[in-house]
Amino acid sequence: MSDEVRAVRLNSGIRRGEQIEFYFDGQPLKAFKGETIAAALMASGHMVARTMDSQPLGVYCNIGICHSCLMTVNGVRSIRTCRTPVSQGCQVETQHFERTK
Ligand code: FES
Repeated sequence: MSDEVRAVRLNSGIRRGEQIEFYFDGQPLKAFKGETIAAALMASGHMVARTMDSQPLGVYCNIGICHSCLMTVNGVRSIRTCRTPVSQGCQVETQHFERTK
């Protein structure tokens, strides 16, 4: 059994919004209107939202409480991507944090 974490979009019984394109660290990805940025990223196989001291962190609560999904969106830092709808052409970037010593 693999311990790899994967996310998939459900394909039956779901009515999706229009397909759109957005950018993750400069790479074009497909999403559907109505999805959050975090959901669109996970469905595309990207599980890391940010790093802390070079350690990868991904979505944890997925309801806007833990701040584990903070990313830079259209140049604005620290956006909770689990609460932010993806939009056509938006630029999403991994955010890197370092603890102050
Ligand atoms: S995953 Fe917890 S706030 Fe987004």
